Amino acid sequence: MRVPVLVKVSIFALAVMGSYTYYANSIPQIQSKPPEELSLEGGNVTPEQLVKAGEEIFKGKGTCEICHRIGQKGTRAPDLAGVGGTAAKRKSGTNAKAYIIESLLDPGAHLVEGYPNIMPKVDRPPIGLNRSELWALTAFLESMGGTVDVKLDDIPKSAGAPATGGGGAAALKLPGDPKAGQAVFGGKGGCIACHKAGAIGASPVGPDLSQIAKIQTPEYIMGKILSPGAMGTVSGYPPNVMPPTFGQSLTAREYIDLLSFLLTLKGEGGPSAAK
Ligand code: HEC
Ligand code: HEC
Repeated sequence: MRVPVLVKVSIFALAVMGSYTYYANSIPQIQSKPPEELSLEGGNVTPEQLVKAGEEIFKGKGTCEICHRIGQKGTRAPDLAGVGGTAAKRKSGTNAKAYIIESLLDPGAHLVEGYPNIMPKVDRPPIGLNRSELWALTAFLESMGGTVDVKLDDIPKSAGAPATGGGGAAALKLPGDPKAGQAVFGGKGGCIACHKAGAIGASPVGPDLSQIAKIQTPEYIMGKILSPGAMGTVSGYPPNVMPPTFGQSLTAREYIDLLSFLLTLKGEGGPSAAK
């Protein structure tokens, strides 16, 4: 029986995703708690301290600035200046606080017009913020044009890096070879014609991928390679430019090596490096 290559690759992708989830769930002991985890629970914290902590998370662990800028349109995401005020009008029946919290935990529930559904759930890997961090971050967002009134209890108990996974899952190794994947990126895949990735490439045709593993899930990156249009078009870039044919042209081995390479891209270059 002849099976189309795209189907084979997709089945392979599902198998990899399956084993990825399996590993993530079955070996919780390898999870490493991020060192700079913030805990404010039980402590007395003033709104000012909370906002300050939230700003640090925004700029640091949250990696929000790779996509969002304040007072400036980012390449991948809306400007968040004044979001504490505009949030009140985004969704009828939802106040500013509830909208902001929903934006962080379930970004796809309401999309800002003109933007694709590419924001990851920030309490899941790779960003993986905990409840205290979500609390502080919400306070910081509210402080830009709104009223800081968020309480820890407003953040759902189910939110935050779960005991079984946390930031550890994103660091799991796939069965691919990143070195071979880099060769696919620069060679057969031809990705380098449009993308920069860390030390290699310089083309501005597509987004700089140097920090992609810090802000995106393996599922998104896998989908983007197989079916770029289905994953939404990164804002600021033309649609239908990234070839939709990699599912046919790459072998399953090349695909998984390529993915393994992309998951190593956690460059520290700062937000300006991710254009
Ligand atoms: C991979 C890129 C990406 C990352 C990382 C990211 N976002 Fe977003 N964000 C988006 C995009 C695209 C939208 C618009 C589509 C939507 O509404 O989901 C958005 C929307 C939002 C909104 C709603 C804005 C509005 O005007 O209604 C908020 C609030 C927000 N993000 C906050 C954050 C915070 C805080 C972080 C860091 C913890 C973050 N985002 C990380 C891409 C990103
Ligand atoms: C002809 C140019 C071109 C080639 C070749 C190309 N891409 Fe892209 N790629 C783009 C463009 C343009 C975008 C942004 C628009 C969009 O989202 O479709 C993009 C978006 C992406 C994204 C999403 C980035 C983000 O910030 O969310 C990933 C991941 C990606 N490409 C990976 C690859 C890989 C891996 C290859 C090689 C197998 C590749 N691309 C080949 C043009 C290209």
